[in-house]
Amino acid sequence: MPVPTISWEGGQDGHARLIDQTLLPDTYQVVDCRTAEEMWDAIRRLVVRGAPAIGVAAAFGAYLGIQRSAARTGGELLAELERVCEYVATARPTAVNLFWALARMRRVASDNRELPAAALRRRLFEEATAILEEDRAICRRLGEVGAPLIRDGGAYVTHCNAGGLATADFGTALAVFYSAKDHGKRFQVYADETRPLLQGARLTAWELAQSGVAVTVICDGMAASLMRSRRIDAVFVGADRIARNGDTANKIGTYGLALVARAHEVPFYVVAPVSTFDLTLEHGGLIPIEERDPAEVTRWGGRRVAPEGVPVWNPAFDVTPASLIAGIVTECGLIERPSAERVSAVIGARHPAS
Ligand code: MRU
Repeated sequence: MPVPTISWEGGQDGHARLIDQTLLPDTYQVVDCRTAEEMWDAIRRLVVRGAPAIGVAAAFGAYLGIQRSAARTGGELLAELERVCEYVATARPTAVNLFWALARMRRVASDNRELPAAALRRRLFEEATAILEEDRAICRRLGEVGAPLIRDGGAYVTHCNAGGLATADFGTALAVFYSAKDHGKRFQVYADETRPLLQGARLTAWELAQSGVAVTVICDGMAASLMRSRRIDAVFVGADRIARNGDTANKIGTYGLALVARAHEVPFYVVAPVSTFDLTLEHGGLIPIEERDPAEVTRWGGRRVAPEGVPVWNPAFDVTPASLIAGIVTECGLIERPSAERVSAVIGARHPAS
């Protein structure tokens, strides 16, 4: 990518810079965020999207909210940060990385509240920057862990966009493809278009094509026919929140794809960093699912595509039960046939809530 999905410009007094993902693939435009309100809006409108990228954006949003604070003591700055975090947390409900990143910022402020305000502000800037840098490294590791699952000459399906655009760099599910390609493997990726906002057609096809990975776009409803008519080796998707037992929330349509994969005996893999696990939730039924504006379904490209006044249900995510998942690729290793015990065995000690 010519510039990173999300970056920070100009040191501690600077601002965040984002690729506006609502305009891709037609228009490549970069936007600057200078306030917590601008970052909130960017997250809500999917200018920046994808669970890990939302986490990084939330951390910078929290920092922007206290960047010009007049607080004199660390305690005063902590109180301000708490208010900003509560506000940023309302941007989107499902991707747990948002809450994870805000919790990290809060913890740093709380642990260092005895510092003078200026020193604490510096510390919070460093923490937000660390979240960005760590995500880059983790995505590379996800690619390395997942690449052996790719067969030279194989064919794969992915849903939504879990690539460099959804993370600080390289992606989660798409990192597996990028890494396999770097190892000299050649293969075919089918990208579900991903209704209603077409992250697959607009974003995944855009970034895979740019990276020289062979990509073919299909409508979401074509995956079953594809699996019946051609050999598909596996499905790889990202995640927005994974419960303790491995149940996984991801973009709406993922659950249907997992059912289709099971019916055709195609292994279904989730690829996600440890920060996407929510060990406080026993199962996926407890994951809050965002419902978005009906206009996302009834309108496309500035024109109405459904009759005026027709009721719409527009959940942005669904939950795939762990029983349909062959494995979860994490930076700590592969969790095969996920269950509460297996999740805990692989990531337990590494999870921030442990
Ligand atoms: O609504 P979005 O575009 O933020 O949804 C994104 C997804 O569902 C991704 O698959 C998920 O966040 C994983 S991104 C590495």
